Amino acid sequence: MELLGRNDPCWCGSGHKYKKCHMEFDEKLESLRRMGCIVPSHKIIKTPEQIEGIRQSARINIAVLDYVAQHIREGVTTEEIDRWVYEQTVNAGAIPAPLNYEGFPKSVCTSINEQVCHGIPSPDDVLKDGDIINVDVSTIYNGYFSDSSRMFCIGNVSEEKKKLVEVTRECVQLGLEQVKPWGFLGDMAQAVYDHARANGYSIVREIGGHGCGLEFHEDPWVGYIGKRGTEMVMAPGMVFTIEPMVNMGRPDIFVDDENGWTVYTDDGMPSAQWEIQVLVTETGHEVLSY
Ligand code: MF3
Ligand code: CO
Repeated sequence: MELLGRNDPCWCGSGHKYKKCHMEFDEKLESLRRMGCIVPSHKIIKTPEQIEGIRQSARINIAVLDYVAQHIREGVTTEEIDRWVYEQTVNAGAIPAPLNYEGFPKSVCTSINEQVCHGIPSPDDVLKDGDIINVDVSTIYNGYFSDSSRMFCIGNVSEEKKKLVEVTRECVQLGLEQVKPWGFLGDMAQAVYDHARANGYSIVREIGGHGCGLEFHEDPWVGYIGKRGTEMVMAPGMVFTIEPMVNMGRPDIFVDDENGWTVYTDDGMPSAQWEIQVLVTETGHEVLSY
């Protein structure tokens, strides 16, 4: 912890005196740290100005997903979805965050059925009746990052797959209800995990959510295997995603070795994912992107 005087300007950049700003906050974190808790660093606590920037980015992210929701249907290719996302994002004055991110070639991830995540849009992938697809949109606006994804059911989807999609959505909702200051990421994780397990599903262990706002992927890493009362303490000003990948069968996955991106279930069974971006507030949480 920095050695700031009570009357020094706060580290958060608010311009207020430390004692009137984050002093109590730091004392709280320090006492939790002494008790053995994992606490967030100042680096991942957003200032009100940064939060407003992330909110504006998230508004575009939501609008892009709304556009996809209005146009997605049987017969559309994932390449077309990519074009919609690119055009809607750029028309809003923003940049699709996936494009060229660590070499990712497209503006959005589209993952169909047994594809778990990071599917690459292609003119060869035509949506067909009965498919379930995750469309994962991420936006950079004014230097601020937002990230969320939704599932879409194409035409007549089997009851089994519909249930997977619905239960996964419920997992995110139950996780979200655990997001409040001075709780633990493990509280959220266990709520997500227990609901998936209660429905006979498994959760991918290797890939999780992440801090998001000033960069695409920041600390903390957000898994769903953690137990209540463990993992990082949630503090006001933290922004992260909740994005469990829920598998109908086994949790095991592999990465396509030809494109180096697309993740599949090992057993070929379907996988679903919803992603929201959430801010921890003084009183609870605010969903920034969905
Ligand atoms: N949007 C994904 C996430 O939720 C990250 C995709 S990285 C990309 O974390 F390069 F594949 F776009
Ligand atoms: Co994400």
